[in-house]
Parts: sequence; structure tokens; C-alpha cells
Amino acid sequence: MGISYHENKRIFKLDTPKSTYMIGIVDEENFIGHVYYGRRVVDEDLSYLLRTSEGARVPSKNNRDRVSFMDSFPVEYPTHGIGDFRETCLSVKSKLGHSACSLSYISHRIYPDKPKLTGLPSTFGDSESCTTLELICEDKVLKLQVVLVYTVFEKLDAITRSVRILNASEDCIYLTKVLSACLDMDNREYDMLTLYGLWSRERMINRRRITDGKQLISSLRGISSHQEQPFMAILDKDANEDQGEVYGLHLVYSGNFMAQAEISQFGLLRATIGINPVDFSWKLEKGESFISPEAVLVYSSEGIGQMTRTFHDLYRSHLIRGEYRDKKRPILINNWEATYFDFNSEKLLSIAREASRLGIEMLVIDDGWFGARDDDNCALGDWVVNEAKLKGGMPYLATEINKLGMKLGLWFEPEMISPDSDLYRSHPDWAIQIPGRTGALNRNQLVLDISRKEVRDAIYDSISKVLHSANIEYVKWDMNRCLTDLGSACLEADTQGELYHRYVLGLYELQERLISDFPQLLLENCSSGGGRFDPGMLYYSPQIWCSDDTDAIERLSIQEGTSLIFPLSTMGAHIADCPSHSNGRSTPFATRGYVALAGTFGYELDITKIPEEDRQLIPEQVAMYHKYNDLVRTGDYYRIASYQSNHEYDCIQVVAKDKKEALVTYIQVLARPNYRTRRIRLKGLCEDMIYRIEETGLVLSGGALMHAGIQIDNMWGDYLGKIIHILAVN
Ligand code: GLA
Repeated sequence: MGISYHENKRIFKLDTPKSTYMIGIVDEENFIGHVYYGRRVVDEDLSYLLRTSEGARVPSKNNRDRVSFMDSFPVEYPTHGIGDFRETCLSVKSKLGHSACSLSYISHRIYPDKPKLTGLPSTFGDSESCTTLELICEDKVLKLQVVLVYTVFEKLDAITRSVRILNASEDCIYLTKVLSACLDMDNREYDMLTLYGLWSRERMINRRRITDGKQLISSLRGISSHQEQPFMAILDKDANEDQGEVYGLHLVYSGNFMAQAEISQFGLLRATIGINPVDFSWKLEKGESFISPEAVLVYSSEGIGQMTRTFHDLYRSHLIRGEYRDKKRPILINNWEATYFDFNSEKLLSIAREASRLGIEMLVIDDGWFGARDDDNCALGDWVVNEAKLKGGMPYLATEINKLGMKLGLWFEPEMISPDSDLYRSHPDWAIQIPGRTGALNRNQLVLDISRKEVRDAIYDSISKVLHSANIEYVKWDMNRCLTDLGSACLEADTQGELYHRYVLGLYELQERLISDFPQLLLENCSSGGGRFDPGMLYYSPQIWCSDDTDAIERLSIQEGTSLIFPLSTMGAHIADCPSHSNGRSTPFATRGYVALAGTFGYELDITKIPEEDRQLIPEQVAMYHKYNDLVRTGDYYRIASYQSNHEYDCIQVVAKDKKEALVTYIQVLARPNYRTRRIRLKGLCEDMIYRIEETGLVLSGGALMHAGIQIDNMWGDYLGKIIHILAVN
């Protein structure tokens, strides 16, 4: 079992295969100290690391310096207002208006299995794969019970944390800040790795030295955002792909968040992650409870690459659910970049006919099939098929498309309302807005107040009616603006601060309803490209549209950043038209195929209009997808070379779990004259296994492939690519 309690030492030891996490209860006041997190150790007690005999000492021995103690003690879940002046995780507003909160350990439970977080997405496991520790703590004055929940995965170096807060008093209390996790770490020199971006350039990798003070990433957009990812890795300053200690923290949440690294006065590091406390408050009536989102902690002593592979394994097996989790996804063709709003049934069917002839398996009708929507100015909320445009409606289209042997998919943007829509005309108060203020428009649309049940019910009814009307087997769920002008017609003045979080809970409830009512449906989330690509959304959809930037070269960096934490099976990636609608660049059709192969793989172009030589490549690409997708979806991912950092070429590798097969994707972004062949050293193979390179017939040991490497000939021209397939021969 991965969790043990050493009663005489009052130490909890949480072990994963290669990491140990230790918590100690100290002093008469039962402070909950963070003892250690790092490489696995056999010892049961490392409580000397708490430094309780130094400086301030514990309050029972030196109460005159209690504040000094509180401000330096490494603590599991720091609370506000009692002398810890570093970032804290919990603050309140009591009946009397006070904000301080103080926790002491009361009791604990250790049990096999992993509890669900009601209403929230979270990783899951069973009694075979998980053990859970609940530390029951209390603020005696406030009569607030706080349960710190830790789950250890027996086979993965991952630990999850969340917090459950119960108001056991007679009065109501307001929570004004509830973070999910804190890690107090030693005074080493650390770097911080985060993912930043913007629309069409999501999840660029940023690495910086952590210095004195606070280094914060956050979102206040109501979504996890294009700009920051609710992820942070703390790593040795010398850590690289293959070596060094790395601690990954990821929040399973799709709304406002914060993640921060702070170096305190003694040079100690405190990392915190959770819901952004700005504009947050939550009223707890007597007997009510609040559950924080889950924070995932991944430890690797083998560099960033191993952190990536642990996240991939965890999310593939313990977060993503449903029919398509372990299945090859149908190759789709989406009409957005093919037609934008200018289409009708005949146009769509002409695309579908050609696509089916070439082996494509699903047509996705994007924006513009409903209400009066011929551009992006109106009709969001009017989820009724525009039969003037689409004769015969969905039943006709689905039948015709099914006759071609293809599936039909459909785009929705359920959380939105256009001021110019029938929905808004009949329910103007359903938009999130502040009475008396003109709400800020974005893409000419407002956001529906899905914190309200009647709004969710109405929108869900109209969507499910369309889905029930025909054989629709895929939904792209889009979300194209951030939240502003926060105000809900249904919340009281003292609960308006709940709206951001209630919105996210409403979203989760809607998606849960959708996937329960339509269990066979393939759901792909999207938010103006990749604005809500987070682990919360992965709990509902096995794939998420990565970015509206469909240029293959830009995609190398976007997909590199995304796959730092997300499995390749989740990254929506399409072969799009050229010159690219994103940046005007032209890349060979084959290269676009290799890049999309590292994601879900699909097409987004007018297949009836592309050059004949490109069209002829499609059956080959389809065959390539079918040949390699099982490996790409399920294998171990290795970064060999990053175009984002070397500005010349990119190389990734996927290795089968049994190490008998590997696929290398190499993209030469820029050609150079008069160069020798480039040598690439592979990773993750078995030293002693003998492999054959399918393309050249060369037979080499895993050791040779990894330590001596293979040579990649210079190719003539920019933006060229190749894949290299390696198979074990014995
Ligand atoms: C967003 C999506 C695109 C497309 C458009 C439609 O920008 O990211 O893929 O669906 O909306 O309006």
C-alpha cells in the first residue's frame, strides 16, 4: 500500500514507485508540516527537515515568537492571517468580518480507492490502483472542518490533492480563497516551466529561474485561457529532457486559476496552485461544504521527458473517459477553413463524396448551420437547423453521409448568446451582465449565464433535440469569448462572487449530461482554437482542438508545448489548405500530414479544390494514419529536437510500451547548404533488442540507435519531413 502512518513519529508517508511524500504532525497544536517530497526513500521519518529546533522553534516551546514560527514552518496547507506572510491557501470572511483561519490536525483516514469530487472533473482510480489519505483538520474558533485529501497512484509517480471544507458552525461563513495545493520546498536553485500564449499561438514553453518574490501565472478570463495554462513545473536549474528532478503541478480545472512560485525571506520556495482568489467568494451556510478542484503532482527524477510521460499515462488511463478513450478516432474533414459560412447541403455533400472516395471517415459541419447565421454576428443560441441553407435538415444530411459510409459531426457553441438572436430577444436576462451597464461584446456575442439551471436546461434541450433528430456521432463544443461584466440575475449581492466558479460547474454539468445521454458520441472541446485546453475538459472529451493556427510549421511549437503535459491522442490536429489561412505560408502536403499524425489527424480544406497531386496523397496519408495511430495514441513520447528552441528542425519519437516498435517524425524546417547529414540519437528503446529501420532496411541494436544514432540526410528545400519506422526483429 502506498500510504503508511507511523504513529509514534506522527508521520504520514506516501510512496509512489519512485517518489516519497512525507507529512508530519508537530507540536501540541498539531501543526501539519510538509516534511519532504522527492526521490523515493526507505526512511520512515525525515522530520528533522522541518527545522523545528532552529530559530523560532515550535510555539509550545517559544510562544513569544509564534509569528516567526508561522512564517517559516513548511506547512501542508497554509492559512491566512496568523503569521504566515507567504502566499496562503485559505482565507475566510467570518460572521464578524474576520479573515484569519488556523488549522490543526484532528484525525485521519487511509483507504484504498479514490473518492470522486462531486460536480468536478478529477482523475479516477480504484482500490487496485489508488490509496487515499484524508487529513481531517479543524479551525476550532470558526468551527470549520477542512479535509486535505491526497491520493497516491500505485503505478505512477503521481499524487493528487484536493480540499473539502465543511461549515460545522451555526453561522454562515464566506470562503474568500481556497487553493488546492501548496508545496513548501527546500532552498535549492530552481527553474520554473510554464506554458504561455495567445490566440493562434497557444502553449509556448517558458523556462525561467525562480528568484526572490512571487512569480505568478493566472487567468481571470473565466476560462483556463490561451494566455496561461494551469500548469507549472518546478525543476532543478540543470534539469533537461533526460535528467534532473522535476515537479509538475497541474490543476484539473477550466476556469480562473493561479499558480505561483514564491521565494521567501529564508530562500525557501513555496509553490501554490488553485482557483484564482480574485473575484472569488463562496458562501457556506451551516452544514454546507465546498470542494476544491484537484491538483495533480507529478514527480520525475529523470528529467522533463519522464514528467511528460507520467502525465500522459495518468491522463490516458485515469482522466479521459468514454467510448473513444482507447479507440482510433474517425478521420474527419471539417468544413470551417473549406467554406467558412458559405455552404449549403450540396456543397457539403460534394466535399463528403470526394472525402469518402479517398478514405476520410467523417464530415464535420462547423459554424453556420443554424438560425440566421451567415456570419459571426448573430444567432448564437438559436440551435435550429437553417433549412434554407441545409435542405432536408440534419436527417437528410446524415442519411446521405451515412450512405457514403461516413459519419456526421456538428459544431455548437452552447455557452453563448448573440444579442441578435431569437434567444436573446426572448430572454435578455440570460446573458451574464450587470444591470445598467452595457456588457462588453466580443465577436459580437455575450456569454450565457449557465450557472442558472433553467438556462442550462433550455440550452441543453435545444442541443439534444438536434442530436436526437439525426445520426450525429461527433460534437465540436466551441467557446469563443472570455467572461466580462460578471453579474448574474439570480445571485444575491453577497453571492455574486460565486459566479465564475458556478459558471464552470454549470459547464461541467452540461457536458456530463451530454456524454451520459449520448455515450457513443465523440466530443471534441474547443475555445477559439486552444483557449480551454486543460485537464478539466479532458474529463469530458478525449480530444480538444489545439489551435486555430493550422500552419504545419507553427503547429510544431504549439504541439510541442501542448504535449509537454497532454497525450498526443488529445491534440486536435488537421491538414489544412495552403497558403495557410493562419500566416500565408505554403508547406508540402506530405509535411502537413506528418505533423497532423502526431495528433488526432483530420482534414480542414475544400477537398474538391485542392491540387490534384495533393489529393492523390490522401489515400496514402489515410493508410499512414491507420498504420501508426495505435502506436501514436498509446506509446511513450520522447522529444528529440525542438524547433521552438533550435529554429531549424524538429524531431519527436513515440515508442510502444513493449519497446518493439517506434516511430520517429522528423521535420526539416529550414534547409542549409553544404552540411553533413544530421545525426539523431533515439530514446526509450531497449538496449539489447535488435531493430530494423523499415525505410532503409538498416539493422541495429537499441543501444546503437540510442547512443550512436541514425543519420538523416539533408533534404532539398524548406518545410520537408519524413517518418522513420523502427521494428524489433527478435
Ligand atoms: C472558433 C474555432 C474554429 C471554428 C470557429 C467557428 O474560432 O476555433 O475552429 O470552429 O470558431 O466560428
